[in-house]
Amino acid sequence: MQTILVTGGLGFIGSNFIRLLIDDFSDYQVINLDAVTYAGNPENLKDLENDSRYTFAHGDIGDRKLIDELLEKERPDFIVNFAAESHVDRSITGPAAFIETNIVGTFTELEAFRAYCAAGNKCRFLQVSTDEVYGSLGAEGYFTEETPYSPNSPYAASKASADHLVRAYHHTYKLDTLITNCSNNYGPYQFPEKLIPLMISNALEGRDLPVYGDGKNVRDWLYVEDHCRALELVLRAANSGETYNIGGHNEMENIELVRLLCRSLDRRLGPLPDGRSRQELITFVGDRQGHDQRYAIDAEKIKKDLDWEPQTDLAKGMEMTIDWYLDNQEWLNQVRDGSYRKYYQEMYNKR
Ligand code: NAD
Ligand code: TYD
Repeated sequence: MQTILVTGGLGFIGSNFIRLLIDDFSDYQVINLDAVTYAGNPENLKDLENDSRYTFAHGDIGDRKLIDELLEKERPDFIVNFAAESHVDRSITGPAAFIETNIVGTFTELEAFRAYCAAGNKCRFLQVSTDEVYGSLGAEGYFTEETPYSPNSPYAASKASADHLVRAYHHTYKLDTLITNCSNNYGPYQFPEKLIPLMISNALEGRDLPVYGDGKNVRDWLYVEDHCRALELVLRAANSGETYNIGGHNEMENIELVRLLCRSLDRRLGPLPDGRSRQELITFVGDRQGHDQRYAIDAEKIKKDLDWEPQTDLAKGMEMTIDWYLDNQEWLNQVRDGSYRKYYQEMYNKR
């Protein structure tokens, strides 16, 4: 049995990763440290509460004493850091929390990891990062692992800083670290501040579908389970110090994606009560400040080294995602609580 300390495992990707480790593997024991911010939802892993291979610890990655105690007690073989403030729009209106968790928090976790290794423990540290560290592409080209970092939002800059620290800890202290930079994820349990669940949630309520700017920004969509399988593989099989880009080979303009979602919902549920298609809910709103035009990943390196490729194309992944949200409307109603409504008003009323 190998022990993995996951940080930030109650969020979207972390909870999918933990469920994969427990359901599809028999040789992992998982400790999940999470601060339970607005994005961390205990409901996401409620089904694992009584699983003997899963333990939850409530706390902050910036709390050094807590992490030292956890490492001492649980003696993990791996640490996987998902913990972060993750939403670009929030980083534009309030960057401080991003500096605190994404930079200072990751630094604190790395320091605890360094002390743990210095005490003779063997452990590897995987930092889950984003393609947004590379900045924005024009109509052509792809991000490779060699693309220089050029982050544009406070979120991307905070993730880039953390990546630099992780890289430096490998170089300077010879610690066993890894970094993955992935494209936009989608799938079950994603908080409805992000594009896809926000559009599904609004379309189900018959509300406006707010598309930023001209809707022509392009993202490369990766089904979350494909991402989680790549992470497990990197953790287990990558050489120390490596960086891998992980992408979906699924580029699409935002407006096209929203239209696709509307068509699928109309097909399943029929038109809106007043007979209109959900596409008529699409509303172009003021653009995001500094909005990156296009992200697209070249995932050749992980294919060549570790034989990983995404298995889920966008049409299939989108159907599975819509199925999940339709089957889990109770989950959606719970996360769209008072604080979500307040966030939504503040973020969208002035656009
Ligand atoms: P999320 O916002 O859904 O979840 C973040 C989790 O971290 C939550 O459970 C939250 O409670 C926890 N957390 C936040 N601050 C913490 C702290 N100080 N200490 C402990 N826990 C804390 O995020 P996500 O979408 O699951 O993303 C996970 C990671 O993947 C992030 O690091 C993000 O930058 C990266 N990433 C996400 C995407 C994406 O499309 N969602 C794409 C590329 C990279
Ligand atoms: P998002 O899900 O926030 O991910 P990221 O900013 O990390 O790529 O947004 C995806 C794209 O969708 C991005 O180009 C911004 C756009 N977008 C909208 O047009 N409307 C919205 O309400 C949201 C949340 C995003």
